[in-house]
Amino acid sequence: MAQLWGGRFTKETDKLVYNFNASINFDKRLYRHDMEGSIAHAKMLASIGILTEEELDQIQTGIEGILEDVENGSLEITEEYEDIHSFVEAVLTDRIGDAGKKLHTGRSRNDQVALDMKLYTRDEIVAVRTEIYHLLETCQNLMEKNLYTAMPGFTHLQKAQPLTLAHHIGAYMEMFKRDYSRLTDIYARMNYCPLGSGALAGTTYPLDREMTASLLGFYGPTLNSMDSVSDRDYVIEFLSALSLIMMHLSRFCEEIILWNSNEYGFVEIDDTYSTGSSIMPQKKNPDIAELVRGKTGRVYGALLSLLTTMKGLPLAYNKDMQEDKELTFDAYDTAKGCIVLFNGMLKTMSFHPEVMEKSAANGFTNATDAADYLVGKGVPFRDAHTIVGQLVLHCIDKGISLDEMSLEEYKAISPVFEEDIYDAIAIATCIKRRNTIGAPGPEAMMRVISLNQRWLEENQDK
Ligand code: ARG
Repeated sequence: MAQLWGGRFTKETDKLVYNFNASINFDKRLYRHDMEGSIAHAKMLASIGILTEEELDQIQTGIEGILEDVENGSLEITEEYEDIHSFVEAVLTDRIGDAGKKLHTGRSRNDQVALDMKLYTRDEIVAVRTEIYHLLETCQNLMEKNLYTAMPGFTHLQKAQPLTLAHHIGAYMEMFKRDYSRLTDIYARMNYCPLGSGALAGTTYPLDREMTASLLGFYGPTLNSMDSVSDRDYVIEFLSALSLIMMHLSRFCEEIILWNSNEYGFVEIDDTYSTGSSIMPQKKNPDIAELVRGKTGRVYGALLSLLTTMKGLPLAYNKDMQEDKELTFDAYDTAKGCIVLFNGMLKTMSFHPEVMEKSAANGFTNATDAADYLVGKGVPFRDAHTIVGQLVLHCIDKGISLDEMSLEEYKAISPVFEEDIYDAIAIATCIKRRNTIGAPGPEAMMRVISLNQRWLEENQDK
């Protein structure tokens, strides 16, 4: 096991130490980004005369060959190398000779790994944002279709007021839009290139950091070499955005699990997204929703882990920072996978509007509207609240709903009630009249849906 840094050592590293220190098993997934960074670095070295055009050509062709071989499976990234950086440099030198040894001029693994992690994370931010966009399209589609699908709205998981499925899904639409824009913000803040920062204090070579930054699609170079090699804020920010996404998915999953239960019967998760029981033949379980809810903990764990790893580190690079990878990669994979699966489940789920509507009607969700009706007839709201409380008590006693009471029963509690109470408390009326912006009334919802449409168009292909 030849090491990049073997020169000043007289003894071989202990095997256990070697394994404990090595990161190849998990940083091998940075191979593409590592090679992309190396090509940019080599081009820049050639532009300032440190490499000849011929050396650059050898390096570039060499790295491209390695990339191809890794991707077609003919070259395996093995534990023989300490990390992905050592792997690329060693194989390159093996293949092209001395020019390969010049690649690391003016570079440290500290700025190299900072770059690789940034390039990788940047791609993941874009990939996650794309999946969130697809999820938003599904939500928008469901909203358009369910403008009039009545359902109960809950507080404390108790039926509260009637609303629509479009409105309920609209709440998640807002969450996912915020998630989307959070990812855009993170991207804008993190997209500066650390390459050229060296180990911590820059280099004595006249590196053109503007050039490498631009070759790699960054807005420009980072401005402090110590910060550049020790900054993992963008990973933490991304993990935090992923944690919020998972929290949103998890809440939605929790609702879908409830809605999918026999007791609610609001929805049925498609067979393709459900699983059975090995013993109970009747079962069709919402495992996917439960797993998404469950995996949320893993993503939070990665966030907490990295925050903790970073909190006591003196400037600049410390090996602790190698711990930024395993859980982070797991969190990236987990969150991205969950968004895709959740979107598929939501798209294929069937809704039962009759059940939802019936549930909205049986549970006094229109009690506030009955009070508002009295207010409309001149009764002060506080008195109206008490009167409707008496109506509810009467209904509970008789096992009926408000619209099943006779006008005589109404009048016995308050003479103000007239025949028009029935229309006032019809679920459709209750919903239709809630038309302040953000409310479930179809007119208000149509405005929101068209604003969302514009939002989707503006954010397409970003
Ligand atoms: N494997 C290391 C990491 O992931 C790369 C940087 C190593 N730098 C060093 N000075 N040992 O952080």
